[in-house]
Amino acid sequence: PVYEATVSAPVNIAVIKYWGKRDPTLILPTNSSLSVTLSQDHLSTRTTVRASPDFGGDRLWLNGAEEDVGASRRLANAIATARGLRAALEDQAGGGAVPLSQWPVHVCSENNFPTAAGLASSASGYAALVSALAALYELPQSASELSRVARVGSGSACRSMLGGFVAWHAGVAADGSDSLAEQVAARQHWPEMQALVLVVSDQKKAVSSTAGMQTTVETSALFAERVRTVVPARMAAMQRAIAERDFAAFAEITMKDSNQFHAVCLDTYPPISYMNDTSRAIAGLVHAFNAAVGRVAAAYTYDAGPNAVIYALEPDMRALVELLAYCFPRPADTAPEAFYPDPFGLF
Ligand code: DP6
Repeated sequence: PVYEATVSAPVNIAVIKYWGKRDPTLILPTNSSLSVTLSQDHLSTRTTVRASPDFGGDRLWLNGAEEDVGASRRLANAIATARGLRAALEDQAGGGAVPLSQWPVHVCSENNFPTAAGLASSASGYAALVSALAALYELPQSASELSRVARVGSGSACRSMLGGFVAWHAGVAADGSDSLAEQVAARQHWPEMQALVLVVSDQKKAVSSTAGMQTTVETSALFAERVRTVVPARMAAMQRAIAERDFAAFAEITMKDSNQFHAVCLDTYPPISYMNDTSRAIAGLVHAFNAAVGRVAAAYTYDAGPNAVIYALEPDMRALVELLAYCFPRPADTAPEAFYPDPFGLF
């Protein structure tokens, strides 16, 4: 027999950044973070898992190419944790359940966007894997409880287990039991909110988040201050801004936190630099736009790569997209639909 489940999971973009681990194996962060989960229609990973007693061993295909499952400890940890939850269910059923926990799995995962270009592919990837295994294994746990399983695959993945505005509580427990994601507000709470992804480069990033943040923890003095005082205050202020739908406050914290994350990268030794001249030009344009309209109408944020994500409310987003299109003309060899694929549906 073969049992099978397919699930898609979306990308999330942090407005208060996760950067730094206190436990690299369980992936426990040094600070809490907060993100917005984007719509699945645009940036998502679709994963099928199959389990059968006839499979020779666990196997994985990413975007059509087979990967060596033995090479990734995180993947092994995530699958083993999900299997453990299934095994507990089977124990409870006392032999009445199909012994899926003992069967090898085949995992087939496809992104609808470039991998490792700073577009959070590991986040949607591990969220899709864990959601698919949870469906296959018929796990009773909530999305928030399952976020702990996604977290051992990739930290930011725990936030993609929930929609809307999501907080990942750093937690204090050594076993990671309190380090999980929770929804702060549903997407419908703030319907005018839009996200726009500006792909500055679809090249793979030079320094992975995993390696980069470890060097930061070891070498940056700015980072220690960020963790101790800045992030706790921003987490509280950001949750207030979302509850009150105060866009100016949301935007200001988002931009400042992105800027501090990149400052901390530069304070890392050897320094890490993820933004490029185009990224900086986009940030400058957002500030110029805000100055021109006389209020904070748009925010930028950058992860471990040069791509920008812009947050703005409708109808401001429409005006900003026109300005961006004017300032960054479409290269002659790109089709209009490839260059601006429905910017208003992104979130
Ligand atoms: C800059 O979740 O990719 O995007 O836990 O090592 O897999 P690992 O790192 P990852 O780091 C994401 C860092 C970030 C900020 C964020 O998403 O909060």
